Amino acid sequence: MWGRRRFVVTNQKGGQGKTTTTVNLGAQLASQGAKVRAIDADPQIGSATFWLPPQWEHVDPGQRFDLSHVLTGQATLDQATWPTTVPGLFIVPSFHSLGQFELLRPPGADLVLRQAIDRAEPYDVTLTDCPPNLGLLTVTSITSSDEVIIPCKPGGLDLAGVNDLNQTLALVKDRLNPNVHVAAVLVCGKLQSNFVDAIEQQLQADYPDAIHQAIRHTVRVGEAPTVRQPLIEYAPDSTATEDYRTLAGRLFPALSTRSA
Ligand SMILES: Nc1ncnc2c1ncn2[C@@H]1O[C@H](COP(=O)(O)OP(=O)(O)O)[C@@H](O)[C@H]1O
Ligand SMILES: [Mg+2]
Repeated sequence: MWGRRRFVVTNQKGGQGKTTTTVNLGAQLASQGAKVRAIDADPQIGSATFWLPPQWEHVDPGQRFDLSHVLTGQATLDQATWPTTVPGLFIVPSFHSLGQFELLRPPGADLVLRQAIDRAEPYDVTLTDCPPNLGLLTVTSITSSDEVIIPCKPGGLDLAGVNDLNQTLALVKDRLNPNVHVAAVLVCGKLQSNFVDAIEQQLQADYPDAIHQAIRHTVRVGEAPTVRQPLIEYAPDSTATEDYRTLAGRLFPALSTRSA
């Protein structure tokens, strides 16, 4: 029922909910039985790797491969995929060395992650978390995926930014991956206001074919990374946990039928 779907979570602005969405949608799907590979393509502080560190204490430090090894041809994706503390959720971690990839720009750089996923063990769901820019790592991540999830924080939204993202998506679709499309647009950290209602309406008009889901604001989201737990474990009854569960059910309608 999972269909080996590949999602990229992207928005070129920082602080929009990309990492929160990657970790918590991933944990939600894993809790419902999916084998999920989260790929961290943003090595900044507060990354998915920090939130869900790889469980590799027993592994020789020389063998602790991460995404930069994959992108520079030193390891396969499977060699760089590690268990997390969450059953069913695996992570391809990133550290500052990932910057090397953008400096080196190896031949075929745009396609390298797509090829690595194609050659790796198939997972039910792949979720790639992007850095806050439209550089090579973001283009490579979008090219590797078919379905785009765009999280936005109300207030952080400037339409010029969304235009730039749309242009990048159009170029990737035209030149690199004809299947790429926007699957979902999220308003993350939603607090009720007329302003937010107007933003939601605008987003619905801009992306008429996408799933639109609000993820409500809760302080639990800021707390969970400090204890390295996804919301589903740290705050199973929080509003955001419920909203990510709803999102999972809308992306995978068979889930809702199953639990009904
Ligand atoms: N639903 C939410 N409720 C409250 N705070 C949130 C919510 N979603 C995200 N945040 C907060 O917003 C900030 C940015 O989120 P993050 O996922 O790191 O964004 P990005 O990866 O796009 O930079 C973080 O401090 C996070 O705790
Ligand atoms: Mg992030």
